[in-house]
Amino acid sequence: MSDMLAERREALIAAARTAMDTAYAPYSGFLVGAALLFEDGAIVTGANTENASYGLSLCAETVACAIATHAGRRGGLIAVAVLGGAGGRTGAAITPCGRCRQVLHELAALGGTDPLVLGVGEHEVVETRLSVLLPNAFGPSNLF
Ligand code: THU
Repeated sequence: MSDMLAERREALIAAARTAMDTAYAPYSGFLVGAALLFEDGAIVTGANTENASYGLSLCAETVACAIATHAGRRGGLIAVAVLGGAGGRTGAAITPCGRCRQVLHELAALGGTDPLVLGVGEHEVVETRLSVLLPNAFGPSNLF
C-alpha cells in the first residue's frame, strides 16, 4: 500500500460516505458515493446522478472522474472508494460497473497508475486493483 493511501484511507472512505448523501437517485433509490485519492493527497468525490431518461444516468465514479478531469487532473490516481445501497443504507460491498471501470482507467492510465479499488460494505472492505477489474484494457496508449 502506498504511504499516501495508508495515511488517507479512512478519510477516503469517509469522503465517499459523505458524497453518497448528495446522490440524486429518485428512480432507483440506490444511492452511491465515490471518492478518488490522488498522489498529492487530494480527494475528489462524486455521487450518482440519475435522469428521467433512465439510460442517461451517471454513476458516482463517473461523476467523480469528470470533476477531477475538469479540475485539471490528468493521472495520479492511486485509489478509489465506492459505497452505496438502497435508500443510502450501505449493505454489501460494491464494485464499479463496467462503464465506470473504463472511465477510471482513462484517468489512471494518463499517469501510469493501477489504482486500488475499495468496495466498502457494511461489514467489510473488498480491495481489488483496477487492472483486475478491467484486464487488458483499451486506453489512451492505443490512440496516442
Ligand atoms: N451506480 C453507481 O453510481 N455506481 C456503481 O458502481 C454501480 C451503480 C448507480 C447507477 C444508478 O444510479 C444506481 O446506482 C442503480 O444502478
